[in-house]
Amino acid sequence: MKGVILAGGLGTRLFPLTKITNKHLLPVYDRPMIHYPIQALVNAGIDDIMVVTGGRKSGDFLSLLGNGRDFGLKHLNYAYQEGEGGIAEALGLAEHWANGDSVVVALGDNLIENNIASAVAAFQAQGGGAKILLKEVEDPERFGVATLEGEHVTRIVEKPKEPESNLAVIGIYMYDGRVWDIIHELKPSDRGELEITDVNNWFIEDGSMTCEVLDGWWTDAGTFESLHSASKLVAEGGANKLG
Ligand code: DAU
Repeated sequence: MKGVILAGGLGTRLFPLTKITNKHLLPVYDRPMIHYPIQALVNAGIDDIMVVTGGRKSGDFLSLLGNGRDFGLKHLNYAYQEGEGGIAEALGLAEHWANGDSVVVALGDNLIENNIASAVAAFQAQGGGAKILLKEVEDPERFGVATLEGEHVTRIVEKPKEPESNLAVIGIYMYDGRVWDIIHELKPSDRGELEITDVNNWFIEDGSMTCEVLDGWWTDAGTFESLHSASKLVAEGGANKLG
């Protein structure tokens, strides 16, 4: 199973911290932010990984991560995103490398407490389609928000003003090889980005999307409040059993 970490974008919500560096190189407690999603994929048994970077100081990812030896990897792959055309655009840059395979995608500013190996195994066992992970939050309007009927997700709305639930879609997504063609068909949203929520809604309409509620804590680290709480969560409880 291949894994892609998305660490492009300009991180403008963290200005001036991100004025001269990339958000994913900022510290979260005792490590650079990017270490956490890489470790999360490695802990789930994924060892063929591409990091998509961009924006400021993208060359520093090579100095920091090299070939991935700190994570027990033999090799790391890189791609470069020009501008910040959205999460789905960044994912599309992995198409050539993925070569039609299915993929687990992790946003570079998302941290989780527990191992997602069982969710990845469940995705592999479902034999195609897609899988997302959900978490109850107090501020759903900041995220993609899922509406469920029973155990099935029926739609996702990106940053709704009036959320239909408090279930945020976390930044870890699993897709079969159709994702690469779907990305080609996307149109930019009102914020000018190719939205991962549009990819997820495609799989929902196809009837091949499954979801699971994540156990343990999850946070993003893309705002001052969430960056601060991410550091506190790691300091207090550790994240995803980092080596
Ligand atoms: O954190 C989970 C949320 O992440 C989801 O609930 C939302 O549905 C999803 O759209 C996303 O929301 P954000 O607006 O918080 O995403 P943000 O623009 O902060 O980007 C998250 C990561 O994606 C960022 O750390 C790096 C990567 N990214 C983002 C953009 C816009 C890229 O690699 N390239 C990009 O152009």
